[in-house]
Amino acid sequence: MFRQKRKFCSLLVLIFLSFSFSAMANKDYLVPQVTAVSKMAKADKAAVKLGKMLFFDPRLSGSNWISCATCHNPARGWSDGLPTAIGHGMTKLGRATPTILNTTFNPVQFWDGRATTLEEQALGPIQAAGEMNQNLDELVRELNEIKGYRKAFKKVYGDEGITKANIGKAIAAYERTITSTDSKFDRWISGKEKSLSKAASRGFKLFEGKAACVSCHSGFNFTDNRFHNLGLKGTEDLGRMAVSQNEKDKGAFKTPTLRDVELTAPYMHNGMYATLEDVVEHYDRGGDAKENLSPLMQPLNLTKREKADLVAFMKSLTGKAQKVSLPQLPN
Ligand code: HEC
Ligand code: HEC
Repeated sequence: MFRQKRKFCSLLVLIFLSFSFSAMANKDYLVPQVTAVSKMAKADKAAVKLGKMLFFDPRLSGSNWISCATCHNPARGWSDGLPTAIGHGMTKLGRATPTILNTTFNPVQFWDGRATTLEEQALGPIQAAGEMNQNLDELVRELNEIKGYRKAFKKVYGDEGITKANIGKAIAAYERTITSTDSKFDRWISGKEKSLSKAASRGFKLFEGKAACVSCHSGFNFTDNRFHNLGLKGTEDLGRMAVSQNEKDKGAFKTPTLRDVELTAPYMHNGMYATLEDVVEHYDRGGDAKENLSPLMQPLNLTKREKADLVAFMKSLTGKAQKVSLPQLPN
């Protein structure tokens, strides 16, 4: 009787251990930080509200025609659906508009990582001739002429009021609230077995195993925040090398998040692939151009079904649709 009890107890311990082990194995993919960060940002409600107005206000641009949301459009996964962005005077830019979803978690901003903080980043596109083409001193003057902005900046920043730095801070406060929502994958990884289709769960296994996508798209945000050259055909862009001046970074770009990736076609820094299927074919070939190709890029020899499974997995990362209301712009 006693022995049986002991046996029973060790069985319980075993069950407990295997449970905690599987939880441990999965914890890379859990997103607890999301709540912590958005809570922090939400604590400063007035700054977030102001930042949202600025984000959606075309008066931030030289032409009064282009807002951040023109390119980072919430209805298009915070991107624009174009291969490369179109800015001031219909200028076609050299790179694709990345999503700003979860960018609060990125230690580096832009495809080449040339900015670190969102506060610093926000002032870039406002001034860039090809993007919003606005002089910042001029912008501070213009916003000062709008009573609603004078009041809102005063509420958040006191007597400092409207300054370049505070414009950047307010926009960043809003951006920090733009985080991913619960996806089928998140429900599955936190233990709800039936949330994921068989194809998607096979795809996740490939993602971590045979296809080795996880060597770069790692963690809950599916990025290592590092720079890699994937051997894209026919590109001249130096990528990270223009920032680091290091030859080994030639043609290397930041690994993008894969959250909501289903919504942000076309793909890559130059928008060269129209579909996720095209992207998977690229990896299956082990890349095209061989100059400075990442050693992590190897032909994968995936079957037709495996390719489809990888795509199904990526689509399982799409979060619940978020309702984004447009702010009332001040006068
Ligand atoms: C004309 C289109 C356009 C406009 C307008 C625009 N952006 Fe962007 N945004 C881009 C492009 C293109 C990139 C990538 C550029 C690069 O990497 O060199 C980018 C990159 C970013 C990034 C970096 C994201 C990441 O993960 O690396 C953030 C954040 C961002 N923009 C926020 C903003 C904010 C805030 C505004 C308004 C003040 C704004 N953008 C206006 C097109 C635009
Ligand atoms: C060597 C690191 C590395 C590996 C391995 C890797 N990726 Fe990527 N991935 C990147 C980088 C870097 C980019 C952006 C490259 C560019 O635009 O030049 C990217 C881009 C993407 C994109 C386009 C996202 C967008 O927003 O444009 C998708 C989708 C993608 N990868 C999926 C995968 C899948 C699926 C695998 C496995 C088969 C994989 N990746 C393996 C580093 C990697």
